[in-house]
Amino acid sequence: MSGVTQGNAAKGAHRIAVIPGDGIGPEVTAEAVKVLRAVAPVMRRPVELQEFDWGAERWLRDGTTLPKGAMEELRDGYSAILFGALGDPRVPEQVHARDILLGLRFQLDLYINLRPVELLDERLTPLKGKRVSDIDMLVFRENTEGLYAGVGGNFKKGTADEIAINEDINTRKGVERILRAAFEAARGRRKKVCMSDKANALTYAHGLWQRTFAELKKEYADVEATHLYVDVAAMEMVRAPERFDVLVTSNMFGDILTDLGAAIVGGLGLAASGNIHPGRCSLFEPVHGSAPDIAGKGLANPLGAISSMAMMLEHIGEGAAAARVQAAVARVVTDGAVTRDLGGMLSTPACGDRVADAVGKAA
Ligand code: NAD
Ligand code: IPM
Ligand code: MN
Repeated sequence: MSGVTQGNAAKGAHRIAVIPGDGIGPEVTAEAVKVLRAVAPVMRRPVELQEFDWGAERWLRDGTTLPKGAMEELRDGYSAILFGALGDPRVPEQVHARDILLGLRFQLDLYINLRPVELLDERLTPLKGKRVSDIDMLVFRENTEGLYAGVGGNFKKGTADEIAINEDINTRKGVERILRAAFEAARGRRKKVCMSDKANALTYAHGLWQRTFAELKKEYADVEATHLYVDVAAMEMVRAPERFDVLVTSNMFGDILTDLGAAIVGGLGLAASGNIHPGRCSLFEPVHGSAPDIAGKGLANPLGAISSMAMMLEHIGEGAAAARVQAAVARVVTDGAVTRDLGGMLSTPACGDRVADAVGKAA
């Protein structure tokens, strides 16, 4: 039997760093931890949790965003990070969120932002006539460069002559590794990869994506490789989501397309993600943010956070436990044991309880 402990590592334990963050982050993370405790008995190794208080409150108190040495501590001492959300209207320009979330993505080199878009129940999609089998895609969002690289600046800031620049950084290495990850994943699925870019306008940056894709296509001749410009990809995700299996795209486009993806399967409250570097300490978080509009009211849907935790279990080699959690999430969704955003009546903790109960029953 395995179990969950707080602090003090049991030998051979999975060490998990928990960063609940701001707004609804702590509410949904508490439910993911609840379900983790429920599934721990069937895990191969015990789990040890360590919580970190990084977020808006800490920043307002002492100006800390990501403490010195934190990245190395996480990289060397933990199997994975379970993350809630960051974002607080009291923090100017969300400096804390940029330092902590983007800081961890970049410094831990978590180059794959993996975001499944999977319809769990026909009733959840706003798309007319689409069935469960029509929406099952996996988005590979590049996660360490592009427009997010933070390269740029302001010139004559605050004047009428101001110039503001964010450079779109695309490296051959960065592009190739995310494309390769997508091709590899497609081999274990329906063997279809669609790359989405805007090479017709961003000729230099996305020209590199086109050329790299053309090369990899030859290497992965068993995978059907197609291309859509991002504007058309957005339209096709709504019009004909059944066209997609694996979708691979840049950092910014992936951000936007995955909120769209969430909307076609029931909303942001359900969407899960992993920020992954295979074989290294990786970070798992719901796609949604801190939702200040509903924070502290028990209204937040915890299923995105719980599914992200399941992705974490998969990453740390606990595939059977991950499958149990996913089955339990699917079960509460079909039972309607959900929060108001999905048309249910349950509070955040009551929904988490139902998943934890179902974990015990899932075969
Ligand atoms: P958001 O995702 O927080 O909220 C968008 C809408 O979806 C809101 O109406 C919200 O109530 C709803 N929603 C989100 N999660 C939900 C859930 N679990 N259950 C039910 N409803 C849910 O996006 P936003 O309002 O644009 O951003 C708020 C803050 O969060 C900003 O500071 C933003 O920068 C930050 N943010 C952080 C992350 C992250 O930490 N990964 C992701 C996105 C946004
Ligand atoms: C996400 C969020 C982040 C992003 C923000 C908070 C920087 O929207 O994880 O999707 O754009 O990556
Ligand atoms: Mn986003």
